[in-house]
Amino acid sequence: MQQVNLSESRNSDNSPVRAWPKDDVSRVPYWLYVDRDLYDRELQAMFYGPTWNYVGCVDEVRQPGDYKSSWIGERSVIVTRDHDGALSVLENACSHRGTRVVWCAKGNGSRLTCPYHQWSFSLKGDLVGVPFKRGLKGEGGYPSDFDTVDHGIRKLKHVERGGLIWATFSEDPPDLETYFAEALPGLDRVFSRPTRVLGYQRQLLSCNWKLYIENLRDPYHATLLHTFYVTFGLLRAGNKFLLGTAAGGAHSVTVTENTGKKEKDSTGEIGRFGEGLTLADPTLVTPIPEFADGKVTGGTLHPSSVMHQQANSIAIRHLVPKGPGQTELIWTFFGYEGDTEEMTLRRRKQANLFGPAGLVSVDDTEVLKFVQATAESYQDHVGLVEFGGRDTADTSHMLSEGQIRAFYKYYRQVMQI
Ligand SMILES: [Fe+2]
Repeated sequence: MQQVNLSESRNSDNSPVRAWPKDDVSRVPYWLYVDRDLYDRELQAMFYGPTWNYVGCVDEVRQPGDYKSSWIGERSVIVTRDHDGALSVLENACSHRGTRVVWCAKGNGSRLTCPYHQWSFSLKGDLVGVPFKRGLKGEGGYPSDFDTVDHGIRKLKHVERGGLIWATFSEDPPDLETYFAEALPGLDRVFSRPTRVLGYQRQLLSCNWKLYIENLRDPYHATLLHTFYVTFGLLRAGNKFLLGTAAGGAHSVTVTENTGKKEKDSTGEIGRFGEGLTLADPTLVTPIPEFADGKVTGGTLHPSSVMHQQANSIAIRHLVPKGPGQTELIWTFFGYEGDTEEMTLRRRKQANLFGPAGLVSVDDTEVLKFVQATAESYQDHVGLVEFGGRDTADTSHMLSEGQIRAFYKYYRQVMQI
């Protein structure tokens, strides 16, 4: 990552680069995706602050003794299922010298043992074993007042809802219902039935985490960049939309209703629209009806999660920032308990639309890489976010960047920029 002395940099109007370029959110400065100090502040205020972060689901830790490693921001955490059935979310850091205790993605056992000095912990994070605690033959070891009770792994507050596990570093977080606010019904709609993990995709995005959040709040590009969507009828600009936000812009809610109409107006301006192309296997884009309302939904759940229900694909995307210019994206794909074999096959097939090589998602990965490259090399420039006006109101059409503006309205308040 290229570092510059931002305090000496100036915008073209000679204002300091760190200032917001205009007193509204129709412009987003590029240094926002590059600045290391700002990124560190975001981790503290957002990822490690009073926010709820997706860390996994109950299906991944279904059996007693199951554990998995996960992430909140750059911090590794562990999700465990104890033999009494209780879930815990722990810092993945040994209370002795800080080594990661769990190095694998998933496991099962009765103890978590740090490889460095073999301190071992219960699945609830309590310290239960310290080699040579009292030394050997009266020599060495810990002082007599050393008590294992004082040296457990820190436990995080967590909540399970609809099979998804949310955790926070905050000691005093808002309750989940208050936190997700208007975004909660959309999440409950999809995760109201017991789910099973169908698989994962993982990728490294060469961009700042906020650029990915913006991408999900940017319906303008959906029919223009993603020609696959439009060509094969998954999305049309003339569809019915609801673009909303929740909790003052922190989260976004997108609802799409396919009107089934192939409106000429909605494809007329799309230069690369491939009229007449067909798929050898149309089930790739044809959903088996499953939601009574016929809608598809998605949204960003601040700061690190995205939910999508698109055709028969249901997933949680987990954002793991890796510095200002890189973000890991972990896709967990779900089916419902009791799905037919046909439905499971359909869900798996439609997973090919998403992830690093996804027929749709690959487009985003490519363009975001070059937005980031531009941001790094033109830090005094700004992005234009004025499509659909300058306000942050909900809209019933997709021709607006209002959800992005709403995010930055919220962001500026939290980050005090
Ligand atoms: Fe996209």
